Amino acid sequence: MSEPPAIFVLTGAGISRESGLSTFRDADGAWAQVRIEDVATPEAFARDPARVHDFYNARRAQLTSAAIAPNAAHLALAALERRWPGAFLLVTQNVDDLHERAGSKRLLHMHGELKRVRCARCDASHSWDAALDTATACPSCLLPGRMRPDIVWFGEMPYHMERIGGALRRCGLFVAIGTSGNVYPAAGFAAEVCGRARTVELNLEPSEVASQFDEAIHGKATGVVPAFVARLLAAWKL
Ligand code: APR
Repeated sequence: MSEPPAIFVLTGAGISRESGLSTFRDADGAWAQVRIEDVATPEAFARDPARVHDFYNARRAQLTSAAIAPNAAHLALAALERRWPGAFLLVTQNVDDLHERAGSKRLLHMHGELKRVRCARCDASHSWDAALDTATACPSCLLPGRMRPDIVWFGEMPYHMERIGGALRRCGLFVAIGTSGNVYPAAGFAAEVCGRARTVELNLEPSEVASQFDEAIHGKATGVVPAFVARLLAAWKL
């Protein structure tokens, strides 16, 4: 049997849905409550920073509540990372910390993190659990008024794209979990590896880029992800 392939896992909001966090584009998702143009662009922040802070403060506060915890899908991916003998990278579009809390280590947040803030003046990024407002001073340059959520907004360049590109070039198995395939560059990753890697989509329903995948497994993440991980480990006798 050949070497175990390098695995690249991409996750989206669907993997955190059963932990109690809303997705973005489901009927009860975030973008059904508020417009992207009002809270998730640099222009929105320049126009009305207090409104943007309110949106992210509410989501950060929800994340720190005891009710929100990693689910079986997050835990299965952390177990796969620990037991896989080949290269493994988990790239998430999510800004929650549920993958870390489940034990994932080889993890990149390409859209930033709710529990980090950044100074638009000195660019320092800080771990942050509290609310943020227009008067908050930067812990590094000590100047107030320029702190923002360390979130990648629409129109901004996602983080870690060089490392992500390298991992995509090397991977032999690409798995997308809980993402609708609406937002690029993440939605283009499956097409990028097509022909080089086996591609599998685990989602509640076919995504916008379902045609790019060799295999689709539909169902709730807490059911299909642990089953997929068990099947993969058994296939390699791990
Ligand atoms: N199990 C598996 N999949 C689920 C579940 C579940 N329990 N619940 C919902 N899903 C699926 C939905 O069917 C949908 O295809 O998860 C996907 C969530 O899609 P989106 O809400 O579009 O979230 P995502 O793909 O992560 O969005 C990407 O868009 O708004 C930006 O920056 C934001 O990172 C986000 C990006």
